[in-house]
Amino acid sequence: MKIELKDKKIKDIDAQLELIFVVNKDMDHKFIVDQKDLKKLNFEGVQDSTCLMAQSDRLYVGVDSLESFNLRSAAAKAIKAIKSTSYSKLKVASYIDQDESSIQAMAEGFVLGKYSFEKYKSKKSKNKIETIAISTQSFNDRKINSDRAKEAIQTAKAIATSTNFTRDIVNTTPDDCYPVVMADIAQNLAKEHGLECTILKPSELKEQKMETLLAVARASRHKPRVIHLSHKPKKPKAIISIVGKGLTYDSGGLSLKPSDFMVTMKADKSGGSAVLGIMRAVAKLDLPIEVHGFVGAVENMIGGDAYKPDDVLVAKNGKTIEVRNTDAEGRLVLADVLCYAQQEVKADYIFDLATLTGACVVGVGEYTSGIMSNHEKPSNLLLKASQDVSGELATKLDFNRYLKGTLKSNIADICNISNTRYGGAITAGLFLSEFIDEDHKDKWAHIDIAGPAFVEHEWGENPVGASGAGVRLVVAALQSLIK
Ligand code: BES
Ligand code: ZN
Ligand code: ZN
Repeated sequence: MKIELKDKKIKDIDAQLELIFVVNKDMDHKFIVDQKDLKKLNFEGVQDSTCLMAQSDRLYVGVDSLESFNLRSAAAKAIKAIKSTSYSKLKVASYIDQDESSIQAMAEGFVLGKYSFEKYKSKKSKNKIETIAISTQSFNDRKINSDRAKEAIQTAKAIATSTNFTRDIVNTTPDDCYPVVMADIAQNLAKEHGLECTILKPSELKEQKMETLLAVARASRHKPRVIHLSHKPKKPKAIISIVGKGLTYDSGGLSLKPSDFMVTMKADKSGGSAVLGIMRAVAKLDLPIEVHGFVGAVENMIGGDAYKPDDVLVAKNGKTIEVRNTDAEGRLVLADVLCYAQQEVKADYIFDLATLTGACVVGVGEYTSGIMSNHEKPSNLLLKASQDVSGELATKLDFNRYLKGTLKSNIADICNISNTRYGGAITAGLFLSEFIDEDHKDKWAHIDIAGPAFVEHEWGENPVGASGAGVRLVVAALQSLIK
């Protein structure tokens, strides 16, 4: 889909359909030419509501305000509203709030809204929309800077197409996307975008003493991989590592999940898939930051060879872990990959992204990620990047010493689950913090994306299924480091 800025008045742009946002229910605005007909249809401009006027070739969509998160969502709804029509060329005015970032949000909404996952459908839907022309004429007579507007559109495309790239990986079924396939995707990405890529196979994982990751992987016919992608510009302004949980399927292992809970566990690779999407966006935007992406790609299965509750595993950093539940596998995989990432790269910030706990979804709801860290610096960076800037919701969950005590083991250094039924998102984060070395303690933040990564209904600019959670959030955090 082409999105282009046109230095022309909206009325002088050639297109089949004009999109008009009704801002803050102001039906008297001069842009709203079909006011009478809209009244007849009881259209009041409620956020995300749409009204397509085929006679006048105008599409009206409500936005409560010009804030980015409202525009992004409304733009996505606009594209969805014309999905099955024959309109292929759309025009829209500029809607400026503080600066050109509202143009970025609108353009992101278009690309995110056009997404649908149809790999397994015999009949593909026809979405004809091919071109969107954005006029430099603004809705509220504000002067727009066309260089900045053009840059905003380019940025939007890089971020939103990378989010869609992540959505595709997550939506792919576990027998079509297993660890080796994730490694292939990473290698192709590296080739296409000039990234460095190293893939660790089981023999190398053994050499690296990543025994906890190997234990989780053991019962699967799909062998594990650890992926390391890097973007290395000259004179980088910072060095960042991002680590992702890439469980291409989580059956729970011998602590088998009940069948209702097993459905959607193809999405347990969402953290790792987000890392791949982030690396794609970083390369496309050519950010002046050195970024390293690590993915632990593993399948958690059952079988005679499976790791067991009661096993004691030795992690890469030498800590011993008593396994009491094989369904708490993500933290075991991450423990080793976090150690590996810290050994390979001395970073200014280290973030991990994981669909780690059902408890996080219970605690903060399915639209929000949980952010945990030992220090305010990394968590504030992420919190600032959420909501207004990136459109992703995130909230902080605080560690405390009492919850830390619940991970005690009688026979090993630590247990892989806590001895209390409460605070499960935080105890999982506390477990991970045991694998962060002293040098990185105040540089690390954990992002639990278990809620927003995969939702089985539409919400905001997100479709049914994978949302690409984490991509926009982390890219916005990285961008804030160079502003
Ligand atoms: N992948 C799951 C967490 C999850 C649950 C993600 C629901 C998305 C939606 C993780 O591996 C898991 O099973 N965690 C357990 C931990 C428990 C055994 C301590 C959980 O949340 O129940
Ligand atoms: Zn699990
Ligand atoms: Zn899992």
